[in-house]
Amino acid sequence: MQAILLIHGPNLNLLGVRDSAQYGTITLSGLEKLVSAEALSLGFNVKTFQSNHEGALIDFIQTESANAKGIIINPGALTHYSYALRDALCDARLPCVEVHLSDISKREDWRKISVTADVCIAQVMGKKEAGYAEAVQLLHKHLLKKK
Ligand code: DQA
Repeated sequence: MQAILLIHGPNLNLLGVRDSAQYGTITLSGLEKLVSAEALSLGFNVKTFQSNHEGALIDFIQTESANAKGIIINPGALTHYSYALRDALCDARLPCVEVHLSDISKREDWRKISVTADVCIAQVMGKKEAGYAEAVQLLHKHLLKKK
């Protein structure tokens, strides 16, 4: 079975405790279950990783991308400034979908900027956990087209 990497950046381990108006009430493990079920229905298995550390996220991408077909990533606040993470995603040479639970286009000005979006095939935002199911579907469609 083909593998997808599901990557979560800083503070997303606290989903369920963080501001529910922005991020909903789902926990990280709930989210991982939801993505795994959606992925399985489309023939993928999912390898998940969360870290509060930029370097650990980059190490995971470097180590795991050779064995994966695509990446779904919510980089958390790193979205807005991490050129190192952007480079790691670019160097992975895999289709990536960037997901945000909240609508970053309607929040503070600094959140409106994503330095990672343009190395991704799509950006999904503001749909809370439903955005992740959409991300799996987008990756699936993209990979079918490439065949
Ligand atoms: C987030 C949005 C980011 O601005 C924020 O720092 C997060 C979560 C989202 O999912 O909406 O941690 O990526």
